[in-house]
Amino acid sequence: MVDLFRLDGKIAVVIGGAGGIGETLALGLSQNGAKVVVASRNLERLKEVAKEIQAKTGGEVMALQVDVTDEDAVASLVEKVLAKFGTVDILVNAMGLNIKREAVEYPMEDWDLIFNVNVKGTMITCKHFGRVMRDKKQGKIINMSSVRGIRGYTGGNTAYCATKGAVELITKTLALEWAPYNIHVNALGPALIITPGTIHIQQNPELAKKYKAIIPMNKLGVPEDLIGACVFLASEASNFITGQTLYIDGGLTAG
Ligand SMILES: NC(=O)c1ccc[n+]([C@@H]2O[C@H](COP(=O)([O-])OP(=O)(O)OC[C@H]3O[C@@H](n4cnc5c(N)ncnc54)[C@H](OP(=O)(O)O)[C@@H]3O)[C@@H](O)[C@H]2O)c1
Repeated sequence: MVDLFRLDGKIAVVIGGAGGIGETLALGLSQNGAKVVVASRNLERLKEVAKEIQAKTGGEVMALQVDVTDEDAVASLVEKVLAKFGTVDILVNAMGLNIKREAVEYPMEDWDLIFNVNVKGTMITCKHFGRVMRDKKQGKIINMSSVRGIRGYTGGNTAYCATKGAVELITKTLALEWAPYNIHVNALGPALIITPGTIHIQQNPELAKKYKAIIPMNKLGVPEDLIGACVFLASEASNFITGQTLYIDGGLTAG
């Protein structure tokens, strides 16, 4: 039987590939046969991650530096990926950040920073990798939204929610624009996922209880919860799906 989820021979680029979620997505893609490039600003950390994944899967993993807010750097990343592998099949935009502050106090330089990485960065990487995919008339792009891309949240999340809403509409619009080129553009929409950046929530029983209480499944997510959806959206199993955000949220957005 053909395994629709296998990614053998595919070239995947995971931006934010050393992050709490990105590292695990890169591992999942490698476990399923893809050759993986992990990319972000911290090259030393990326090299460690590449080594760790390679040791676990035996697959080819390469670390490359990029700042997604710098269009020339992204163009250069594309060139390096093409020079090494000749093509690119899968782009996962797993970078991003949140800066929480009450709206009346929100520093607009933080607004610009979060929009530059989460929104402009997503557009720039889609633009440059999308060009290659358009020429070959094939590609899978997976952007990173959040449950906060579809719902409003208190707690100083105005900027973050706005960026993730924008990521969802970039995803839908590119899906339409690039459907004739057989490029699938989808997004993942996780609820809280426990990573080094959010571990303090799990470690604080009261806080963890509060976060769990809004999840119908009454549990917090872990990065591994995202692997299946990412591999699905990167693989032939999702060949008639584009412009969607797949929420990985224990039922949160069902209500
Ligand atoms: N964790 C959650 O609960 C959760 C829930 C929903 C959605 N998300 C989304 O999932 C994505 C990953 O989150 P995470 O929890 O894994 O965060 P994380 O651990 O902080 O990882 C984010 C990664 O983004 C990279 N990055 C930041 N700015 C960059 C830039 N200018 N250029 C290139 N790379 C950049 C960072 O790498 P460098 O420092 O090396 O550049 C970092 O590895 C984000 O989009 C986040 O909004 C997370």
